[in-house]
Amino acid sequence: MPPATSWAATLVRMTDPEPPRPAPAGPAHLPVLRDRVTGLLAGDLPPDARGVLVDATLGAGGHAAALLAATPPGVTLVGIDQDPDALALAGERLAPFGDRVVLVHARFDALAASVAPVLATAGPLLGVLYDLGVSSMQLDRGERGFSFRADAPLDMRMDTTRGATAADLVNGSDAGALVRILREYGEEPQARRIADALVRARPVTTTGELARIVRDALPAAVRHRSGRTADPATRTFQALRIAVNAELDTFRASLPQALELAPPAAHPGRPTGLRGGRVAVLAYHSLEDRIAKRAFADAARGCVCPPDLPVCACGREPLVRLLTRGAESPGPDEVDRNPRARSARLRAVEVLRGAPPTA
Ligand SMILES: C[S@@+](CC[C@H](N)C(=O)[O-])C[C@H]1O[C@@H](n2cnc3c(N)ncnc32)[C@H](O)[C@@H]1O
Repeated sequence: MPPATSWAATLVRMTDPEPPRPAPAGPAHLPVLRDRVTGLLAGDLPPDARGVLVDATLGAGGHAAALLAATPPGVTLVGIDQDPDALALAGERLAPFGDRVVLVHARFDALAASVAPVLATAGPLLGVLYDLGVSSMQLDRGERGFSFRADAPLDMRMDTTRGATAADLVNGSDAGALVRILREYGEEPQARRIADALVRARPVTTTGELARIVRDALPAAVRHRSGRTADPATRTFQALRIAVNAELDTFRASLPQALELAPPAAHPGRPTGLRGGRVAVLAYHSLEDRIAKRAFADAARGCVCPPDLPVCACGREPLVRLLTRGAESPGPDEVDRNPRARSARLRAVEVLRGAPPTA
């Protein structure tokens, strides 16, 4: 996969002469904790606010549409996605908002470069949203190769225009590397057995083959363990998807950019009365939630002097304030309507001051 810096972002203003490709028909994606996310990112803005909201994971544009509807016309939304199909779908959905929308085909570790041209004319930055992971469309479209429920080429790339597929990974990695992927990204206790079975069965080219190999590799007692609700291949599919899309590294590289780009309320040149920039993260498994939790806790920490020091010598002040107490989860009604919301964890912060310059 090429380094993040070489990923050229493609910007499309919604009024540009060449609109995105027509969206393929497909199942809907329900935006998780939509009203809470909208309140956090679009809330507390004056009616004449001018600035930029970034949806770094545009998907079907559900959160983006809610953000646009909740903000004054002076607010521009930059929608980033690495999946060209998602951009096409969201482009259609957001067309009624006209030139308040800018679509960017990019991976979000290129966040700063992707939003710079828009901030230069429509800034300042008011907030950034990450709704991590895959969308329902990606999972439900069997041909994308994300799901063991359909038999399709083993792909799993969110960006179908570049990069190695899951088949490349399974067929090209040694057993040790596969074990690490399954353990680290899938927390799969049977990683060694599954990796050895995959190596023996190569080449593995379809999702159906992968699922069957994983199921056959597991001891019967594990396969039929009482209380097991998920398919035994679930962890393997999650692990490969995270590895193929470098999901954790990309998020780790992007989140500090969002915190750095979001200005504090008292930023020079920022209109008085405008609150600081906000960053919200919806995570769906503990690995990505941990990255947000640590980054936010670190930025929210003030004085780090030993407790027995009578006065502060470090001078450190919090860079952000936490807007959520711990992680917030959807209530039972939302989970009933949208089972995919079950594992969601929402965290958000508001930037209070700029980071001190690094030496
Ligand atoms: C959970 S969906 C977002 C759904 C969206 N909030 C909505 O309401 O429709 C996640 C989307 O983020 C995109 N995505 C995931 N990781 C990305 C990354 N590193 N860079 C850009 N897009 C990414 C996926 O392609 C997918 O379309």
